[in-house]
Amino acid sequence: MSVSLETRYLEGFVRAHEWGALQEQVSAAHEALHSGTGLGNDFLGWLSLPTDYDKAEFARIQAAAERIRQDTDIFIVIGIGGSYLGARAAIEFLKSPLYNAKKKDTPDIYFAGNSISGTALKELLELCEGRRVSVNVISKSGTTTEPAIAFRVFRDYLERTVGHEEAKKRIYATTDRAKGTLKGLADREGYETFVVPDDVGGRYSVLTAVGLLPIAVAGCDIAALMAGAADAQKALADPDITRNDCYRYAAARNILLRKGRAVELMVSYEPCCAMLNEWWKQLYGESEGKDGKGLFPASVVFSTDLHSLGQFVQDGSNMLFETVMQFGRAPEDMVIEEDADNVDGLNFLAGRAMSEINRKAFEGTVLAHSDGGTPSLVLNIPAIDEHSLGYLIYFFEKACAISGYLLGVNPFDQPGVESYKRNMFALLGKPGYESEKAALEKRLGRE
Ligand code: PA5
Repeated sequence: MSVSLETRYLEGFVRAHEWGALQEQVSAAHEALHSGTGLGNDFLGWLSLPTDYDKAEFARIQAAAERIRQDTDIFIVIGIGGSYLGARAAIEFLKSPLYNAKKKDTPDIYFAGNSISGTALKELLELCEGRRVSVNVISKSGTTTEPAIAFRVFRDYLERTVGHEEAKKRIYATTDRAKGTLKGLADREGYETFVVPDDVGGRYSVLTAVGLLPIAVAGCDIAALMAGAADAQKALADPDITRNDCYRYAAARNILLRKGRAVELMVSYEPCCAMLNEWWKQLYGESEGKDGKGLFPASVVFSTDLHSLGQFVQDGSNMLFETVMQFGRAPEDMVIEEDADNVDGLNFLAGRAMSEINRKAFEGTVLAHSDGGTPSLVLNIPAIDEHSLGYLIYFFEKACAISGYLLGVNPFDQPGVESYKRNMFALLGKPGYESEKAALEKRLGRE
């Protein structure tokens, strides 16, 4: 029950000897990662997390999720970047992108604090009216502006609607073990808190309380998720790229980048993968895109986007390669019925499952794109379930770390994210940023 990499569609794009040439670098990256001697080595907690996690906290997460499922109609998850993408990806993947609209015995789940849109926040508040609300505010630093604004609004909403004491019982804070504004507030108010471990960065944190609490509230089996990740941890420890598909994926990306393929397009044929794509984009974009280097991570859902971006992939500039996620089993399937009149001419599909037709769409597309000059990697994933997702999460995290080391960057920091914040704070007149304001105003044409 593992994720495997198929490289047959690289034929004509990558020659056999190119793999061997990269093995030495992959082995060095593996050694740096496992001995903790590489860049960013104080953020390697995710590497052993599937087996080495706080079991008592895990039990508390399950208990809190059970309580929330009982006493809550609408669960608001406040966080941005790595503090929300993993949870949202997992819920949409395992339950459905239509999770909130479906009949279920678990709360609706909405995500807030991932933009600065007053419109979005107001709409969400309106949805909460007359319903039992609980909030999970997630911020490792405890100071990020977007979630801090949303949390101020929802804390105020809860205190107004259910009173201060009840609000305290309905707020769950996931943050640093000891420091930060949110930790201080949580301690003062007595919120139940969960920990983002010091050595796990935001985008690698989905298998901590950051992801696990919302995922469990949605009714997903988080023990199976961890078991899948633990299987990956065990299976993906061999430095040899002929035996380790995770490392072969990292190597393939690197080979293709060196050939000028600057964009990796993550492809899936299941709409439930749209947010998984977003999680993957943050993981790779923030980990690799630095020092003037990196692949640009982009994504599509086919066949939907074959009708929008398919033209470019087939026929446009040769800047990209595709990585296709293919699933062995989908939770649901449908068979096309025979129609006596056949007015739509679709009887050639009668008796066939949608999954088979979708598979043929993939096969036709991957060959067409290859003919058009776009190479593809294919990840075969056993199923759309918790075990496979846990495995896949670990697979992508480890491949990302190895890819970063192959590029010679620190895959665990994100210095570039600070630039917009400095400018925004200066322009907003935040204390401490006064010296930068005048120059920025001038560049904006305001003397
Ligand atoms: O991956 C990262 O480190 C970032 O995307 C963070 O998760 C994001 O900026 C949110 O940070 P915080 O959890 O400190 O609010």
